[in-house]
This record gives sequence, structure tokens and C-alpha cells, in this order.
Amino acid sequence: MSKARHDCVVVLDFGAQYSQLIARRVRELGVYSQILPFNATPEEVLACGSVKGIIFSGGPASVTTPGSPRPDAGLFKMGLPILGICYGLQVMSQMLGGAVECPEHKEYGIANIDIIADSPLFKDVPDHSQVWMSHGDRVSKLPEGFKCIASTPSCPYTAVEDSTRKFYGVQFHPEVMHSLDGQKMLSAFVLGICKASADWSMGSFINEAVEAIREEVGGKQVLCGLSGGVDSSVAAVLIHKAIGDQLVCVFVNNGMLRKGEAESVLKLFGEKFNMRLRYADAEDAFLNALKGKTDPEDKRKTIGRLFIDTFYDEARKCGDISYLAQGTLYPDIVESRSPFGGPTSTIKSHHNVGGLPEDLKWKLLEPLKELFKDEVRQLGRELGLPEELVDRHPFPGPGLGVRCIGEVTKERLDTLRDIDAIFIEEIRKAGLYGEIWQALADLLPVKSVGVQGDERTYREVCTLRAVTSADAMTADWYRLPYDVMQRCASRICNEVSGVNRVLYDITSKPPATIEWE
Ligand code: XMP
Repeated sequence: MSKARHDCVVVLDFGAQYSQLIARRVRELGVYSQILPFNATPEEVLACGSVKGIIFSGGPASVTTPGSPRPDAGLFKMGLPILGICYGLQVMSQMLGGAVECPEHKEYGIANIDIIADSPLFKDVPDHSQVWMSHGDRVSKLPEGFKCIASTPSCPYTAVEDSTRKFYGVQFHPEVMHSLDGQKMLSAFVLGICKASADWSMGSFINEAVEAIREEVGGKQVLCGLSGGVDSSVAAVLIHKAIGDQLVCVFVNNGMLRKGEAESVLKLFGEKFNMRLRYADAEDAFLNALKGKTDPEDKRKTIGRLFIDTFYDEARKCGDISYLAQGTLYPDIVESRSPFGGPTSTIKSHHNVGGLPEDLKWKLLEPLKELFKDEVRQLGRELGLPEELVDRHPFPGPGLGVRCIGEVTKERLDTLRDIDAIFIEEIRKAGLYGEIWQALADLLPVKSVGVQGDERTYREVCTLRAVTSADAMTADWYRLPYDVMQRCASRICNEVSGVNRVLYDITSKPPATIEWE
């Protein structure tokens, strides 16, 4: 939808996590950036729109290994500026006639570079600058036409340029925050050397997306499963802005939602945004299906299956639907097609609507598939969604069902809802919500002896868990201040009947997962 209109810098992906960060940094400069697999052809690059330059990302391979990834040699003849980062620099140097060696001494971590020649890549960058190095190989001979523009004692060709062809390369990672002037260098490349216009913003995205949705959908009907999470909410509001009542949303209450969640979804989307909203109250069906089940996988599968059945039952009542809207994000697309087999979005399959039944032949409408998570949050804000929704932590599809360890009952869920609400409220009050990737409470399948008032009690035990993470693949436990822990524990024991003990989970992922089940 944004392709033809915006200048674009293409990032070639030589190793998934680096390329996404680079594309995000370019977009932060206001320039649209798209990621393509490392072997994209010049035609595929040009198909991205008004392409002004190419960045070769870093990657874990070594160019000295046979079969390591190589870009299409035709890219060097397109007349476009190229910036090679780490592996990207090495592969460019090797393909253009230079050489790469594998030195004994590898360099990881912070390094200080000396800029030794004037270069447009270092516009506004001081002569000595701290960067982040992470490499085994290094360039040992420059290709013809290149000169060295920065070095460190252990890496003579730290940054190089061929100013005629506008080819640049850096051995370090300008995209990471430890490279203190990294964003200046990316800005110098993207805005200065590529001369890309900085016209990519969420405001322009909204107008174009609305137009593109109208054009695609025409007079047809779109169905959207609303979970109350950020992605589906933003997708629904955007589509609603484009086609109004041609959108019908389905919200399934599986009985495992947070406290007040169903009410707030109905109020926000039904009343404030005035959307057509079908509310399926399936709490009893879910609780019945879960009766007696304690095995985590069994619980998850039961919840997943029932969700899909309920959703499709509701969908069938919506009349003639042509499209199913999903809040798929850009990283899902990039990772699922990465030639390196990056983490795919299978984790979400429980919760997104998986394989469609035969009789429902819908096309997919995925209006957020060009956006990163932080861009989706920004879009949500611009579309008028409340901050508490836009900045919300991830919440699993099976909801509190996988946080009620052991058997799931209405009573235990109500207890957990109260605990969770207090925990989140205290974290918000302490101003820590934004620092934490995810905060969750679990009810354990054990009871403990306590003393409350003058009485001995024998009640439920809960754990609180807060983690920091970048992508949920790994996570570190959050050092919650003692006074916040203390307030949570005392409020939970005082205000939630049936609980007399509160624990704090200090395990990272790995070895633990974020959720307990
Ligand atoms: P784990 O527990 O595997 O979780 O470390 C990683 C992230 O995924 C979330 N999660 C889910 N999200 N449906 C979802 O949409 C699910 O079934 C599901 N299971 C786990 C979890 O909350 C964490 O953010």
C-alpha cells in the first residue's frame, strides 16, 4: 500500500534479527524500509517502490565458508548506493575483488573507532566514536576503488567507501544503541547519500491504508476477531475507519479474560467506536470443556479448539463475509519467510484463527503487515485508542486458563482475576509498566497454611512474574523493587479471599518459559 509513493531503502537480510533492527532504524528516520531475503534480484528490489539505496545486513555466517549467503551480483550494477554492515561489508568486499580473512583475534563488544578520512557517511560524527563490534572475520584487502575511512587497532578496515559508486561498508553495527553515533551514520547514508525523502509517518500511513482497504474490499463484508489485544484492536479500528459497517467484529469471551476485560472491549468498540460487534459469551462452554483437565497441553488444545468452533459459529451468523482481517505484523512476515528459518509466528497459532473450515472461503486482510510493533502502537494512538490498550503487555490466547495451574474453575479464575488486577495496578502506580515486557500472576495447585486475623488458614498460593524481553524468545526476570513486591503481597492477602501466600518468580527464560503452562 505504501510502495509506489514513498522513497524506500531496502535491507537485504543476511541474518534475521539484525535486518529488522536496521529497517526499524531507517523508519525512525522517516524513510520507508523494506526487508528482502539476501538473494533478492534487482527486479525484486525495484518492485519495493521508489528505491533509493540498499543496506546489506550483518549475519552469523562467514564469507570464507563455501555456500555462505551471497547477494545477486546484479545489485552492484543498479547505480544505487549500498551500505554493507559487518557480514554485508565482508560479502561486498569479497564479491568486488577484495579479500576477507579469519583472524585469530575476534572482536566482540564495545570498540572505539578513529575516523581517518572525510566521508559523507560520518557527517556530524566526531573523529573518535564508540561502536559495537561483533565479528569473527575482517576485510584484509580492499576492492579496487575503495578507501579506508575509519579503523581500530585490531581492525584496519573498520569503515570503507567507494565514493564514485557510493558503496560504503562498516565492520561494526551502527543499528545497535551501543554504537553511540550509529543513528547519525544511518541518517547520513539514508538521507544524505541515498537522498531518500523522509515522508514515512503514521499519519500518511493511515490515509494510504484507508484508501487501499477501500479499494481492496469494495462493497464486501470483512470479519475481524477482536481479542482486546493491541494488534487486533488497531487492525479493527483502522479497517472500521475505511469501511465502517462493512466490518463486523467477533469477540469471544472464553471466561479466561482479565478482570473487566469483556466489559471494556464492549464499551470501547461497541460504544465509543460504534462498530458492529458480535459478543459470544462462551464462558460456560469453556469451563465445562475444561472440567477435570490439568495437563497443560490438554488444556491449551481444548481452549484452542473451542475458540475456533465458537468463532466460526459466530462468523456463520454474520452473513456473507468475504474477508477475514488479522493483525499480522511485519516481523511475522519477515520471520516466516526468512531463509534462515527464524522464529516463525507459530506461537500465535493458538490464538489467531488457524486453518479455515472448508465452507468459509475468506481472503485475508492484513493491514498491519508492513508495520513493526512500536509502529502499530503509534498507529493505535493516532487512531484514538486509549493508552492503556495501546501499551498493553502481551496476553496469551488461552488467557488465564494457562495461569490457573491445575484445574480451571470459575472460582479459581475469579481469584486469579483479582490477583492479576492488583498486580498490574501496583506496577502501573509505580510507573514500571512500560519497563516491563510482561507481568503475570499464576495460581498454583497447592495450598499453604497461614494465619490471618487470629485464625489459622489453609488457602491458595499465587506467584507473580514480571520479565523484560525483546521478543519473548528469551527473557530476564524483572528486578521488581521490594516495596512494590511488599504492597502487592499485602494487598493480595488482604483483598483477595482464599489466598494467603504470594511468591515472586525469579527464573529467566531459558530455562523457564514466560508462562507457567
Ligand atoms: P512462553 O511461555 O512460551 O511465551 O515463554 C512466550 C510469549 O508468548 C505468549 N504466549 C501466547 N500467546 N497464544 C498467544 O497469543 C498462546 O497460546 C500463547 N502462549 C504463550 C506468552 O504470553 C509470552 O508473551
